[in-house]
Amino acid sequence: MPDNSNLIDWSNTFMCGIKLIDDQHKGLVDLVNDMFNHVTEDEEQERKYLNKVIDEAVSYIKIHFATEEKIMDATKYQGYIEHKNEHKKFILTVLEHVEKFNSGTRIPLMSFSKFLKDWVLSHIAVVDKQYFVYFREKASQKADGTLSINLADGEEILYSSAAPGGI
Ligand SMILES: [Fe+2]
Ligand SMILES: [Fe+2]
Repeated sequence: MPDNSNLIDWSNTFMCGIKLIDDQHKGLVDLVNDMFNHVTEDEEQERKYLNKVIDEAVSYIKIHFATEEKIMDATKYQGYIEHKNEHKKFILTVLEHVEKFNSGTRIPLMSFSKFLKDWVLSHIAVVDKQYFVYFREKASQKADGTLSINLADGEEILYSSAAPGGI
């Protein structure tokens, strides 16, 4: 059931079937919703909240990007460089905001969470979506039937049993 206090409602169309990626995308959506739920329009309260979460949010985003890039690299995904540039541009913009915030400029939570929402939604639904089918094709089936993508360092990226999202 849609929660009206959320800025983003999770949709199964965002799922690529790789558990780690889907969990991280859900985490990003949670992060944006949590931020939106802390909008009070009170500068001090919002600063307190952002102080608590901002560094963790930035590292979460970086970890997610690194995960995707690792899989794109391992599967020789054609759009790798372009996709990586999109990540880089976004991180730089976020870091600019964080820097301003740390030097005392106010970041209104309302506009910041909406900025994040717009980026996260369009990135997952358009840019990430382009690798959904490709990754799936690159996956191999293990003896127990599960699909996985094997990275060069021996790490296995596992699929969940179901991959909704029209694949
Ligand atoms: Fe992503
Ligand atoms: Fe991405």
